[in-house]
Amino acid sequence: MANQKIDYVFKIVLIGDSAVGKSQILSRFARNEFSVDSKATIGVEFQTRTVVIQHKSVKAQIWDTAGQERYRAVTSAYYRGAVGAMLVYDITKRQSFDHIPRWLEELRGHADKNIVIILLGNKSDLENQRAVPTEDAKEFAQKEGLFFLETSALESTNVETAFLTVLTEIF
Ligand code: GTP
Ligand code: MG
Repeated sequence: MANQKIDYVFKIVLIGDSAVGKSQILSRFARNEFSVDSKATIGVEFQTRTVVIQHKSVKAQIWDTAGQERYRAVTSAYYRGAVGAMLVYDITKRQSFDHIPRWLEELRGHADKNIVIILLGNKSDLENQRAVPTEDAKEFAQKEGLFFLETSALESTNVETAFLTVLTEIF
Protein backbone atom coordinates (compact mmCIF):
# COMPACT_ATOMS: atom_id res chain seq x y z
CA MET A 1 0.00 0.00 0.00
CA ALA A 2 2.89 2.37 0.78
CA ASN A 3 3.92 2.58 -2.85
CA GLN A 4 0.45 2.35 -4.22
CA LYS A 5 0.01 4.20 -7.46
CA ILE A 6 -2.54 6.99 -7.13
CA ASP A 7 -4.51 7.86 -10.25
CA TYR A 8 -6.52 10.73 -8.82
CA VAL A 9 -6.63 12.92 -5.71
CA PHE A 10 -10.00 14.44 -4.90
CA LYS A 11 -10.50 17.09 -2.24
CA ILE A 12 -13.77 16.86 -0.37
CA VAL A 13 -14.94 19.34 2.27
CA LEU A 14 -17.22 18.76 5.23
CA ILE A 15 -19.45 21.58 6.41
CA GLY A 16 -22.39 22.09 8.75
CA ASP A 17 -23.19 23.28 12.27
CA SER A 18 -21.10 22.33 15.28
CA ALA A 19 -21.79 18.92 16.83
CA VAL A 20 -23.69 17.44 13.88
CA GLY A 21 -20.97 14.77 13.60
CA LYS A 22 -18.71 15.92 10.75
CA SER A 23 -15.49 14.79 12.45
CA GLN A 24 -16.97 11.44 13.40
CA ILE A 25 -18.25 10.81 9.86
CA LEU A 26 -14.69 11.47 8.70
CA SER A 27 -13.03 9.23 11.27
CA ARG A 28 -15.52 6.47 10.52
CA PHE A 29 -14.68 6.66 6.84
CA ALA A 30 -10.92 7.19 7.13
CA ARG A 31 -10.09 4.92 10.08
CA ASN A 32 -13.30 3.07 10.89
CA GLU A 33 -13.28 4.66 14.32
CA PHE A 34 -15.92 6.48 16.34
CA SER A 35 -15.59 8.49 19.52
CA VAL A 36 -18.48 9.38 21.84
CA ASP A 37 -16.53 12.21 23.47
CA SER A 38 -15.40 13.86 20.24
CA LYS A 39 -14.06 17.38 20.84
CA ALA A 40 -15.12 20.37 18.78
CA THR A 41 -12.77 20.88 15.87
CA ILE A 42 -10.52 23.93 15.99
CA GLY A 43 -9.18 25.20 12.68
CA VAL A 44 -8.81 22.60 9.93
CA GLU A 45 -7.94 18.93 9.95
CA PHE A 46 -7.80 16.50 7.12
CA GLN A 47 -7.57 12.78 6.60
CA THR A 48 -7.20 10.65 3.53
CA ARG A 49 -8.33 7.28 2.36
CA THR A 50 -7.66 5.62 -0.95
CA VAL A 51 -10.42 3.65 -2.62
CA VAL A 52 -10.63 1.87 -5.95
CA ILE A 53 -13.26 3.11 -8.40
CA GLN A 54 -13.55 1.59 -11.84
CA HIS A 55 -10.06 0.03 -11.50
CA LYS A 56 -8.44 3.37 -10.64
CA SER A 57 -7.09 4.28 -7.23
CA VAL A 58 -8.66 7.45 -5.99
CA LYS A 59 -7.24 9.21 -2.97
CA ALA A 60 -9.93 11.13 -1.11
CA GLN A 61 -8.45 14.02 0.81
CA ILE A 62 -11.20 15.03 3.19
CA TRP A 63 -11.10 18.40 4.94
CA ASP A 64 -12.93 19.04 8.18
CA THR A 65 -13.37 22.37 9.91
CA ALA A 66 -15.24 23.75 12.89
CA GLY A 67 -18.95 24.39 12.74
CA GLN A 68 -18.40 27.12 15.32
CA GLU A 69 -17.71 30.47 13.70
CA ARG A 70 -14.88 31.46 16.06
CA TYR A 71 -12.90 28.28 15.33
CA ARG A 72 -13.40 28.25 11.58
CA ALA A 73 -10.69 28.13 8.97
CA VAL A 74 -10.15 30.83 6.38
CA THR A 75 -13.17 30.24 4.17
CA SER A 76 -11.68 30.74 0.71
CA ALA A 77 -8.68 28.50 1.43
CA TYR A 78 -10.93 25.80 2.79
CA TYR A 79 -13.00 25.55 -0.38
CA ARG A 80 -10.15 26.04 -2.85
CA GLY A 81 -9.77 23.06 -5.14
CA ALA A 82 -12.63 21.10 -3.60
CA VAL A 83 -14.45 18.84 -6.05
CA GLY A 84 -16.90 17.39 -3.53
CA ALA A 85 -18.76 18.66 -0.47
CA MET A 86 -20.72 17.03 2.32
CA LEU A 87 -23.31 19.27 3.90
CA VAL A 88 -24.18 17.76 7.27
CA TYR A 89 -27.07 18.32 9.71
CA ASP A 90 -28.23 16.34 12.74
CA ILE A 91 -31.66 14.68 12.33
CA THR A 92 -32.36 15.39 16.03
CA LYS A 93 -31.59 19.15 15.77
CA ARG A 94 -34.02 21.10 13.65
CA GLN A 95 -31.81 24.18 13.79
CA SER A 96 -28.94 22.36 12.14
CA PHE A 97 -31.23 21.59 9.19
CA ASP A 98 -32.64 25.13 9.09
CA HIS A 99 -29.07 26.42 8.70
CA ILE A 100 -28.37 24.27 5.64
CA PRO A 101 -29.41 26.98 3.13
CA ARG A 102 -26.79 29.28 4.67
CA TRP A 103 -24.06 26.65 4.40
CA LEU A 104 -25.11 25.99 0.82
CA GLU A 105 -24.92 29.69 0.04
CA GLU A 106 -21.40 29.91 1.46
CA LEU A 107 -20.40 26.80 -0.45
CA ARG A 108 -21.79 28.07 -3.74
CA GLY A 109 -20.15 31.43 -3.16
CA HIS A 110 -16.68 29.97 -2.70
CA ALA A 111 -16.46 26.61 -4.43
CA ASP A 112 -16.17 25.61 -8.06
CA LYS A 113 -19.54 25.63 -9.75
CA ASN A 114 -19.24 21.95 -10.73
CA ILE A 115 -18.66 20.76 -7.17
CA VAL A 116 -20.57 17.58 -6.29
CA ILE A 117 -22.67 18.10 -3.16
CA ILE A 118 -24.34 15.58 -0.88
CA LEU A 119 -26.69 16.50 1.97
CA LEU A 120 -26.29 14.20 4.98
CA GLY A 121 -28.77 13.83 7.84
CA ASN A 122 -26.50 12.31 10.49
CA LYS A 123 -27.33 10.45 13.75
CA SER A 124 -29.98 8.26 12.11
CA ASP A 125 -29.47 5.87 15.05
CA LEU A 126 -31.38 8.39 17.22
CA GLU A 127 -34.69 7.76 15.47
CA ASN A 128 -36.67 8.32 18.70
CA GLN A 129 -35.30 11.88 18.91
CA ARG A 130 -35.87 12.72 15.26
CA ALA A 131 -36.75 16.39 14.65
CA VAL A 132 -36.27 16.50 10.86
CA PRO A 133 -38.55 14.29 8.73
CA THR A 134 -36.71 12.45 5.97
CA GLU A 135 -39.19 13.82 3.43
CA ASP A 136 -38.34 17.47 4.25
CA ALA A 137 -34.67 16.87 3.57
CA LYS A 138 -35.35 14.79 0.48
CA GLU A 139 -37.52 17.55 -0.94
CA PHE A 140 -34.92 20.22 -0.19
CA ALA A 141 -32.15 18.14 -1.77
CA GLN A 142 -34.22 17.55 -4.87
CA LYS A 143 -35.02 21.23 -5.24
CA GLU A 144 -31.34 22.17 -4.89
CA GLY A 145 -29.98 19.33 -7.01
CA LEU A 146 -28.07 17.63 -4.19
CA PHE A 147 -27.58 13.98 -3.41
CA PHE A 148 -29.10 13.01 -0.07
CA LEU A 149 -28.60 10.26 2.52
CA GLU A 150 -29.22 9.74 6.21
CA THR A 151 -26.14 8.43 8.00
CA SER A 152 -25.00 7.21 11.36
CA ALA A 153 -21.31 7.57 12.14
CA LEU A 154 -22.02 5.66 15.35
CA GLU A 155 -23.55 2.62 13.67
CA SER A 156 -21.59 3.06 10.46
CA THR A 157 -24.77 3.35 8.40
CA ASN A 158 -24.39 4.86 4.90
CA VAL A 159 -21.04 6.52 5.65
CA GLU A 160 -19.20 4.46 3.07
CA THR A 161 -22.07 4.90 0.61
CA ALA A 162 -22.03 8.67 1.09
CA PHE A 163 -18.34 8.97 0.23
CA LEU A 164 -18.57 6.53 -2.65
CA THR A 165 -21.56 8.42 -4.07
CA VAL A 166 -19.59 11.65 -4.13
CA LEU A 167 -16.33 10.08 -5.37
CA THR A 168 -18.05 8.14 -8.14
CA GLU A 169 -19.94 11.21 -9.31
CA ILE A 170 -16.75 13.32 -9.38
CA PHE A 171 -15.05 10.54 -11.27
P1 GTP B 1 -17.53 20.70 15.29
O1 GTP B 1 -16.17 20.16 15.15
O2 GTP B 1 -17.72 21.53 16.51
O3 GTP B 1 -18.00 21.45 14.08
O4 GTP B 1 -18.55 19.43 15.47
P2 GTP B 1 -18.66 18.11 14.53
O5 GTP B 1 -19.73 18.34 13.52
O6 GTP B 1 -17.34 17.72 14.03
O7 GTP B 1 -19.23 17.01 15.55
P3 GTP B 1 -18.47 15.72 16.13
O8 GTP B 1 -18.11 14.78 15.04
O9 GTP B 1 -17.39 16.16 17.02
O10 GTP B 1 -19.64 15.03 16.96
C1 GTP B 1 -20.38 15.73 17.96
C2 GTP B 1 -21.03 14.74 18.92
O11 GTP B 1 -22.00 13.94 18.26
C3 GTP B 1 -20.04 13.77 19.56
O12 GTP B 1 -20.42 13.53 20.89
C4 GTP B 1 -20.21 12.51 18.74
O13 GTP B 1 -19.88 11.35 19.45
C5 GTP B 1 -21.71 12.56 18.40
N1 GTP B 1 -22.04 11.87 17.16
C6 GTP B 1 -21.44 12.02 15.96
N2 GTP B 1 -22.01 11.21 15.03
C7 GTP B 1 -23.00 10.55 15.66
C8 GTP B 1 -23.95 9.57 15.25
O14 GTP B 1 -24.03 9.13 14.09
N3 GTP B 1 -24.84 9.13 16.20
C9 GTP B 1 -24.81 9.57 17.48
N4 GTP B 1 -25.73 9.06 18.32
N5 GTP B 1 -23.91 10.47 17.91
C10 GTP B 1 -23.02 10.96 17.02
MG1 MG C 1 -15.50 18.52 14.22
